[in-house]
Amino acid sequence: MTVPVIAIDGPSASGKGTLAARLAEKLGFHYLDSGALYRVVALRALRMGVAPADGAQLAELARTLPVSFRDHAVLLDDEDVATAIRTEEISMLASGVAVFPAVREALLARQRAFRRAPGLVAEGRDMGSVVFPDARVKVFLTASAEVRAQRRYKQLIDQGLPANIDALLQELRARDLRDSQRAVAPLVCAPDAILLDTTGLDPESAFAVLERIVQGH
Ligand code: C5P
Repeated sequence: MTVPVIAIDGPSASGKGTLAARLAEKLGFHYLDSGALYRVVALRALRMGVAPADGAQLAELARTLPVSFRDHAVLLDDEDVATAIRTEEISMLASGVAVFPAVREALLARQRAFRRAPGLVAEGRDMGSVVFPDARVKVFLTASAEVRAQRRYKQLIDQGLPANIDALLQELRARDLRDSQRAVAPLVCAPDAILLDTTGLDPESAFAVLERIVQGH
C-alpha cells in the first residue's frame, strides 16, 4: 500500500509552513519543509564561497549535504541553522539555487525519503507537480503579496530579525517572479490542485478550511 502524501504548494509567506506543520502534527504524519533544503544549500554555498552561478558545484553540494531535521531543528553537520536559513539574504539565494535542474534533481531522492508510514505532509513549490505527483491531496495555498509581506514582516520581527516592510514586498515579488518563471518545476497551481486563498483568513480559519479539504479526500 502506498503511503499517503498531502502536498501543499504555494508562494513564499503564504502561510503554508505553519499550516502544513500543524496539519502533520494533527494527523500524526511526517512533515517535509522542502524549502529548508534549498535554503541549507544556499547557506552552505555562501559559507563555502561557491558562486551563485556555478550550477555544477551547487548540485554537488546538494548531493553531499550533511543535513538532518529533528523536531524544530535543522542540523547542518551538528549546527542548528533553523534561524540562520530564514534571513532575506538566504531567501533570495535559495530561490537562485533552486533554478538549477541539477540541484533540484540532487534533492529529489532526499525529499522522497520523507515518505514514510503513516503519511507525509510535504510543503514547497513542486510537491504536487514533481516530487509527489501521486499525492492524495494537492493544495495550492496563496494570498495577496501585500498580506504575505505583512505576515513575513511579523515572522521576522518575532524572531528578532531585522525587517523592512517595503523591502520585503519588493523581494517577495522578485522571488515570486523568479519561482514562477523558471524553466524547471516552476511555481504553478497544478490542474489537479485545490486553490486555497488565505488573503482574508486568519490562521485558525485557514486551518479549518485546509482540514475540510483534506477530510474530503
Ligand atoms: O518555501 P521557502 O520560502 O522556504 O523556499 C525557499 C526557496 O526555495 C523558494 O523561493 C524557492 O525558490 C525554492 N523552493 C523550490 N522548490 C521547493 C521549495 C522551495 O524551488 N519545493
